[in-house]
Amino acid sequence: MKVHHTKTRSMVRKAYATVATKAVSCCSGSSCCGPAPAASEGELGLSCGNPVGFSKIKKGMTVLDLGSGAGKDVFIAAPLAGPKGRVIGVDMTPEMLKLAKDNLLKFSKRTGLQNVEFRKGLIEELPVKDCEADLIISNCVVNLSPDKPAVFREAFRALKPGGVMVVSDIVLNRELPPALKKHAGLYAACVAGALQRKDYLGAIKAAGFKGIKLLADKAYRAGGTCSDPITDKAGKALDGAASSITVYARK
Ligand SMILES: C[S@@+](CC[C@H](N)C(=O)[O-])C[C@H]1O[C@@H](n2cnc3c(N)ncnc32)[C@H](O)[C@@H]1O
Repeated sequence: MKVHHTKTRSMVRKAYATVATKAVSCCSGSSCCGPAPAASEGELGLSCGNPVGFSKIKKGMTVLDLGSGAGKDVFIAAPLAGPKGRVIGVDMTPEMLKLAKDNLLKFSKRTGLQNVEFRKGLIEELPVKDCEADLIISNCVVNLSPDKPAVFREAFRALKPGGVMVVSDIVLNRELPPALKKHAGLYAACVAGALQRKDYLGAIKAAGFKGIKLLADKAYRAGGTCSDPITDKAGKALDGAASSITVYARK
């Protein structure tokens, strides 16, 4: 594994460990992706779209959430998949997994469902068998990966033939100034690591996916997200630079 990949992951892991343990907004202490509204289990939502809302989850499906965080989308998907279905969340940050597992206890008590599992792992090396999932979702995570093409190859491997992937994520509409590209806070805030839109869609296609289409496409306010002196100063340079998109693709 490349050294810079390890470094990037540990910077991202540290940022999200802080968010998970302090259960703070993204702006307190470390930058992270998206706002943090409380959902039904009190879990953090660090999202930039609504992949579950765009997915036609049916009873009995196996759903895999890449970078499940505190479990927000997992807990929305699980009642839709029902007791005969399964929802698996994968995340690399132990503190996030702890939060997700605490939330799972409350979720199971509230719903009586036992169809959710959280696994520790990298989205570039998914801890699932080939063709295990009917549906893959992900919400504001792939941009944080140091190897996005590997994530989409893994998603393709993990999907059953005919299976669907619905990903919400940040993409760039133009190049960022070099100082911002290297800015760790802006990376953890889901902007500096984002791919150009055509490269993102190209990586999905190169992994083998078909029927690729945009389900949502909105401007993402990248500048001044966290009263950070660098991003604040760069506010103008970042205006219109990023979008939050939701992409559909099929195996
Ligand atoms: C912005 S949060 C999104 C969490 C969740 N999807 C949501 O919408 O609330 C990003 C999450 O992805 C995880 N993550 C980032 N890079 C990852 C990687 N390479 N492998 C596994 N998990 C990763 C982080 O630990 C964090 O929990």
